[in-house]
Amino acid sequence: MDRKILLSESDIPKQWYNLAADLPSPLQPPLGPDGKPITPDMLTPVFPENLIEQEVSTQRWIDIPEEILDILYRWRPAPLRRAVYLERYLDTPAKIYYKDESTSPPGSHKPNTAVAQAWYNKQFGIEKITTETGAGQWGSALAFACKIIGLECKVFMVRISFDQKPFRKFMMSVWDANCIASPSSETEFGKKILAEMPDTPGSLGIAISEAVESAVKDTTGKTRYSLGSVLNHVMLHQTIIGLEAKKQLKMVGVDKPDIVIGCAGGGSNFAGCAFPFVHDKINGADIDIIPVEPSACPTLTKADFVYDYGDTACMTPLLAMYSLGHAFVPPPFHAGGLRYHGMAPLVSQATVEGLLAPRSYHQIKCYEAALTWAKTEGFICAPETSHAIAAVIDEALKAKEEGKEKNILFCYSGHGLMDLTGYDAYLSGKLTDYELPDEEMDKYSECLKDLPKPPKNKSGKW
Ligand SMILES: Cc1ncc(COP(=O)(O)O)c(C=O)c1O
Repeated sequence: MDRKILLSESDIPKQWYNLAADLPSPLQPPLGPDGKPITPDMLTPVFPENLIEQEVSTQRWIDIPEEILDILYRWRPAPLRRAVYLERYLDTPAKIYYKDESTSPPGSHKPNTAVAQAWYNKQFGIEKITTETGAGQWGSALAFACKIIGLECKVFMVRISFDQKPFRKFMMSVWDANCIASPSSETEFGKKILAEMPDTPGSLGIAISEAVESAVKDTTGKTRYSLGSVLNHVMLHQTIIGLEAKKQLKMVGVDKPDIVIGCAGGGSNFAGCAFPFVHDKINGADIDIIPVEPSACPTLTKADFVYDYGDTACMTPLLAMYSLGHAFVPPPFHAGGLRYHGMAPLVSQATVEGLLAPRSYHQIKCYEAALTWAKTEGFICAPETSHAIAAVIDEALKAKEEGKEKNILFCYSGHGLMDLTGYDAYLSGKLTDYELPDEEMDKYSECLKDLPKPPKNKSGKW
């Protein structure tokens, strides 16, 4: 029995998979301030045209440029591992496979798109990229990619993580990026928020507004903004995860997994691992596909499918997605990367279709799962990843109860070696659970009431 299933470099996928080509009910178009669908040229102050092309593409397979692969070979193809030690501990007949994205230089799946985005920006003649980051995983991934590709990088980091997780900010400095706490006094929007709420922990929505503002106000035209999740082209770049996993599962005789699991913040690691299998499900395969989110930020499991802005200052187009409302300021729980108010339109539409079965967990259960993982498999996972592990353990125990030999695949989206403050809080009994109360949900969804409502189109097949 192999515990590590490895592909050679020559087996790396040479194309990304675009789910937009296969969704039975197509995505709703993004809308501009006038409520009409935007045209791609309206995005040009924010993104380079080559990425906008990918954002609106409905082509099923998109070639990965050789120069991008050359950068990804540093850690890709990533190992598929079998979690036999956890299987033995749980005494389950299930086989648990995980795609190990923690082996990238910054330690998560995020550089799969950071490298691609930096490369396309460079091709387009851009010299500087601005972005936001929550836990710092995305900021450090973009800092790494910009350094390798030769771009300047500025990162607005959500205040709570900036204070709780200083080590990622140090990583960004190692790769020469400029990381500042958001809200900041460097942008008009940051100043406004600081005047209204000087003690705010910040939010991804606020940090996105600051990063977009900072990019579009550069009059040289050489700065663009980059987003680490949510958008279609980000999902696309991450599909290398699931495409590799598919080849690796075949190597051990698994034609298809029975269950695919990933944690979901903006949706990109989940999508990256799951979309190639969503393709198979659309074509008749029987697979349970489960995005897992925190109960304190229950986008897919409790919010409505609406048109909403991607940021707090309402600078982005309106996206059709499950959203708690762009004014949402999440409670300060430890999985900083799962605190976004919305969910990727592609993940949202696949959920509307019934192709996905989202669920949510409280953070204490997730830390329990992370500890079980660390004491069996040995690795210390990111707090975001622990949500996937909690669901994997539940599914493996269910398989035991039912006496079924299920094949479970999940995305191990990152290691937690920079996130030990959360483990310390858990071990010293300081963590509490937080269920977003209905009154809070109502308060935040106020900002949605005058926005257009997308139709919930579905084929009815799932
Ligand atoms: C390790 C890890 N996993 C998952 C996520 C969630 O993001 P996404 O849903 O875009 O994959 C993050 C976000 O920062 C992360 O750092």
